[in-house]
Amino acid sequence: MSRNYLIAGNWKMNKTPKEAVALAEGVRKIKAGAGIRKMIAPSFVCIPAVVEVLKGSDVTLAAQNMASVEEGAHTGETSVLMLKELGVESVILGHSERRHVYGESDELINAKVKLALSHGLEVVLCVGETLEEREDGKVDEVCFRQIEGGLSGVSADGMKHIVIAYEPVWAIGTGKTATPLDAQTVHKACRGKIAELYSPSIANSVIIQYGGSVKPGNAAELMAQEDIDGALVGGASLDADSFAGIVAFDV
Ligand code: 13P
Repeated sequence: MSRNYLIAGNWKMNKTPKEAVALAEGVRKIKAGAGIRKMIAPSFVCIPAVVEVLKGSDVTLAAQNMASVEEGAHTGETSVLMLKELGVESVILGHSERRHVYGESDELINAKVKLALSHGLEVVLCVGETLEEREDGKVDEVCFRQIEGGLSGVSADGMKHIVIAYEPVWAIGTGKTATPLDAQTVHKACRGKIAELYSPSIANSVIIQYGGSVKPGNAAELMAQEDIDGALVGGASLDADSFAGIVAFDV
């Protein structure tokens, strides 16, 4: 079965609101081929301005994170209710920087996943091993634990709104990319895990993105792999031309 591609820009903590507007205008103009969807995830404070730029466009607007509860005494957190009111459609959850810099557990991420789904948001659930875990031969173990933990209690129907992003931690922002074959091996294993948890047909329809130093120069060979259905791009998404070069990968 053929899956669509999802090319997403995770802007992380980059771009002021004015800069975000300019970049969103650039992304809006990028023509994506058939079956290729564009997504951008600006920081929270840039979302209100970016919403205006994206109105009526084919670009999906995502947030980079959200709180695990709807409201209350949670200083510094952002609620799904606020994101929904602004028109956010998707949310990235469990990014490695949230896991490893801010200590988010699978349990916390799972609570966020379920809350996001209950409010009709699409979820991009990030998984991936550290260099140490890779060297210890624990790639599958770590990814499977993060998939199973993150998706605990998510129904088969909920899986229609789940995207998985495999982002090996050692490849993020380092210039080191997993080889297309290494990435394909992990993607295939993750799809197998989803088949085991749900069904082969659900596994076949889930988009699994690759993330970690994706650039215009390596996007095509990654996207050509059977189980790689898109990219979650950090650094190379901060410039509209370079993001366009990735969207224009030629399989
Ligand atoms: P880089 O593309 O900068 O390696 O970042 C990847 C990433 O973390 C996207 O979420």
